[in-house]
Amino acid sequence: MPSDGADLGQVLLDEETIRTEVARLAARISRDYADRRLHLVGVLKGSAIFVADLVRALTIPATLDFISVTPYGQVTSSGVVRIRKDLDDPIEGKDVLVVEGICASGLTLSYLLRNFQTRHPASLKVCAFLAKQKSRPTNVRVDYVGRDIPDVFVVGYGLDANERYRNLPYIARLG
Ligand code: IMP
Ligand code: MG
Repeated sequence: MPSDGADLGQVLLDEETIRTEVARLAARISRDYADRRLHLVGVLKGSAIFVADLVRALTIPATLDFISVTPYGQVTSSGVVRIRKDLDDPIEGKDVLVVEGICASGLTLSYLLRNFQTRHPASLKVCAFLAKQKSRPTNVRVDYVGRDIPDVFVVGYGLDANERYRNLPYIARLG
């Protein structure tokens, strides 16, 4: 555990569990997209570590792009996000899978889906490694979920608290 880990709580998913979940998701996705070329879009920065594991576990051809978004102003519950770094490449005609580290309220994903839909992908689906079990104000559909977790704040495996703990190889509660 890092020396600044005094505020870390219960481990929710250990390394072995994460490996198993990633393999399960990759197998499902590879099956569903068989004979197609998948275009993965990672949502920075939280998905970075998950998407790196996921893309290597796929058995189908895949390309990779990233987008970085940030909530507009301080009102994070408004669902208005600003694109900090847009996609490098057009997604028109591509089979796009948006990859998120965690889906909490679903506001970020619902914004991204609306935005991506206007760019005319051939198909558009969502994979989130974690989904919080909370009533979502948006009815965003997450097509592939690694694990449902309680509505608690978690860190590790790419997820941060003020940029800390992204490099933990496991997922733990904060506090
Ligand atoms: P949403 O728009 O409420 O679904 O929130 C999505 C974003 O909030 C994620 O991409 C994360 O960056 C962040 N987030 C939400 N819950 C957590 C958490 O428990 N730990 C770390 N980041 C979180
Ligand atoms: Mg964060």
